[in-house]
Parts: sequence; C-alpha cells; structure tokens
Amino acid sequence: MQYEKALNAAEYLAKKTKRMPTVGIILGSGLGGIVDIMTDKVVMPYESIPNFPKSTVLGHAHNLVFGRIGELEVVAMQGRFHYYEGLTMEQLTYPVYVMKLLGVKSLIITNACGAINETFAPGDLMIIKDHINIFNINPLIGENDNRFGPRFPDMSEAYSKKRIEHAKKVAKEVGVEPKEGVYMFYSGPSYETAAEIRAFKVLGADVVGMSTVPETVVANYLGMEVLAVACITNMATGIQKEKHSHQQVLLAANKASENLCKFIGAVLQNWEE
Ligand code: HPA
Repeated sequence: MQYEKALNAAEYLAKKTKRMPTVGIILGSGLGGIVDIMTDKVVMPYESIPNFPKSTVLGHAHNLVFGRIGELEVVAMQGRFHYYEGLTMEQLTYPVYVMKLLGVKSLIITNACGAINETFAPGDLMIIKDHINIFNINPLIGENDNRFGPRFPDMSEAYSKKRIEHAKKVAKEVGVEPKEGVYMFYSGPSYETAAEIRAFKVLGADVVGMSTVPETVVANYLGMEVLAVACITNMATGIQKEKHSHQQVLLAANKASENLCKFIGAVLQNWEE
C-alpha cells in the first residue's frame, strides 16, 4: 500500500468534510440502516475520492458517510468491497488505510453470514470473537511500509476484548441477545459445498461469510481496535434444506437490520474513547 496515495485521499476528505471521525463503520449487505441514525451527515461518493476502488455491484449506495452518533464523530462505508469482485486485497482494504490516516481508532464491522453452528438461527446477531482465514488470502502480502505497521502483526486479539465486553453489556440493556463465535472467511462468490461446511465445523467455525477478515487483518496491522457483528441470514450449505439465494440473504439481512441498528447504535451512544 502506498502511503502517499492513502494520505492524499485522507487529506482530501479532511479538507472537504472538515470532520475528524474516531470510529469507522463498515456496513454489510442489506445492513445500511445505521446511516439513518447518523446526524449532521456529509456524504462523499466513492468515485469522488482519490484512488478509491470502483465497485462492481450495481444498484447499491457507494458512499463514505461522515456524521455523528450521539457525541461521537463517525465515518461509515455505505457499500463495502469484496474479494470476489476481482479487486486486489490492496484495493479492497484501501478504505481502512484511509480511515486510519483520517484519525479513526476503532473499526466496527458488520456482515451477513451463514450459520454452521446449529444452535444459531437466521435473524440472530453474532459478536465475532475470532476468525479463521483458511485460504490465507492475506492483504498484507507484499512490501511492508513501517509507517503503517510492523511486518509481522500480532493477531492474538484480532477482535477487541474490551469492546466485546462493552457490547455484551449494552446488548443486555437494550434487550438484544447476540451469540458469540468464530467467523470463517470464504472467498466466494459461489457458496460453500456441504463437505466444506462439515470441514469448517470440525475446524471450529460457527459461521461463514465472504468479507470482514481482510479489513480486520489490516485494522490490526494499523493498530486499530475491531468490533465485528455478524448477522446470520441463513443456515450454511447442507444444514439448510433449501438452496441459497442472494435475494433471500438480502431479505433476511434487511429484516435483521433493525435489531442490528438498535444494537450498534446503543453501543456507540455509550462508547468510551
Ligand atoms: N456463506 C457465505 N457467505 C454468506 C452466507 C453463506 O451461507 N450467507 C450470507 N453470506
């Protein structure tokens, strides 16, 4: 990742928006509702930002939205990038580098996923406590720039224990009952086979999805803390009787979105920096 490239985008955004967000939010498919609870918004379309990747998914909003939730200055990615779109890992994690240079210290990541753990059900939320990157598609492969972070970043607390504890406390207060578990990254775009899901279960995965891990690896590298909440839209292949459909996933994500917004909104209202 070229430092100057990301710095150029961060300086452009700081000048245009006059905002200094400390929390970044990545919104998963069908989970865009959090933008509605933000106030004093400044919307920056991706195509207006220097070097931002071009998304291939049509019909979705693609904006960096600056605003406030309570007292907190936040920036949300409305529309995220996926590896299966054919972007390089560097392109798809570029926004995280830009957020870091904007002053963002914590990253909240949401996603839609399939459940492997049979005690989970569609509509459930799951706080990610760890992940497995089985195909080892690592976004940090390549020359290292020490201004960003170390060559061999530690991943022993990929998801901040402090933020997880806080989120669990807030969940009780607002009457949401999130599960907690391990997220398996699968590149997609095809869904997993039933045999893959059985294998992932043996390996210790509770859910599977096509995002989140690249951004989490980069955030850790950059010294940002991560809180990730997965939204279970379906049971994984072989557990679910019906075939998967993206339409169904989006529908289920939209349904769960209200609960997710209530939860993340409350977490951010009570955020201690
Ligand atoms: N597998 C992978 N990604 C997903 C799924 C799934 O079952 N559901 C939503 N995203």
